[in-house]
Amino acid sequence: MKNLQGKTALVTGASSGIGEDMARVLAANGTHLILVARRAERLQALAQELAAAHGVRTDVIAMDLGAPGAAEVLHARTEGAGVAVDILINNAGFGIKGPFLDKPVEAHRDMNRLNMETLTELCWHFGRDMRARRSGWILNTASVGGYIPVPEFSTYAAGKAYVLSFGEALSNELASDGITVTTLCPGGTWTEFMSVTGQQVSGIQKLGMMPARKVAEAGLRGLSAGSRVVVPGWLNRVYAPTLRALPSSLKTGIARLAMQ
Ligand SMILES: NC(=O)c1ccc[n+]([C@@H]2O[C@H](COP(=O)([O-])OP(=O)(O)OC[C@H]3O[C@@H](n4cnc5c(N)ncnc54)[C@H](OP(=O)(O)O)[C@@H]3O)[C@@H](O)[C@H]2O)c1
Repeated sequence: MKNLQGKTALVTGASSGIGEDMARVLAANGTHLILVARRAERLQALAQELAAAHGVRTDVIAMDLGAPGAAEVLHARTEGAGVAVDILINNAGFGIKGPFLDKPVEAHRDMNRLNMETLTELCWHFGRDMRARRSGWILNTASVGGYIPVPEFSTYAAGKAYVLSFGEALSNELASDGITVTTLCPGGTWTEFMSVTGQQVSGIQKLGMMPARKVAEAGLRGLSAGSRVVVPGWLNRVYAPTLRALPSSLKTGIARLAMQ
């Protein structure tokens, strides 16, 4: 990932899981970091550790990216303050599992705001700076759930389908501006996502689970290479497109069983 050395990457969701491992891999590669999430203490500890270990510049911005206007605020605190962001990694996200009507409407709204709206607005703000410099890298974290409708994960999977579709279109649109857009579609990954979502991983599901480090490495290799879509893990690469091709009633039935 030599082309990312000496560049500055802004990583959202860097306080745990895939985002934390992306920060670790980037720092070891010699990429400067701006770490963003809500838990300031975790970000500070990671920033200090990575700066000491790899001699990279590490800045922390602790903020709620689900708040209205968050993207504008984050842009003002970075590019607006004279810090060029060469690499934008939109990775912060969470899921809601359970019957759609039994979850508070506010929970669906907050998730959609973080997983889709803030991600879109960050691409717009930072994408315009990248276009002016005629150089930039964007990575958005979607999910294999974006390939198929998933009952009892309906709004989450639909949101990730949005991220996937948006990223593929943007990749085509921004190529002539010197900007690459990579969409990372992880399958089940061992992170705090499961406890936040209230998801139990049992039986056959465990076979498909991947360590966050492997997912982060695959995503960053794709980012460095300018790949449009990265699906880590051979099992995910087989079942996501296969399920997508099935008739609707069959694929939603299978997805529902898999979630249970
Ligand atoms: N794990 C999986 O099985 C899996 C599968 C497919 C896709 N994904 C996607 O991968 C991405 C990373 O998730 P993960 O698995 O690494 O889960 P994770 O360990 O729970 O990490 C989620 C990250 O997002 C941050 N975040 C959540 N809400 C936020 C908010 N309102 N404002 C700012 N930051 C916020 C969290 O930090 P704070 O709590 O400190 O704010 C944390 O750093 C997500 O987009 C997720 O949808 C995960």
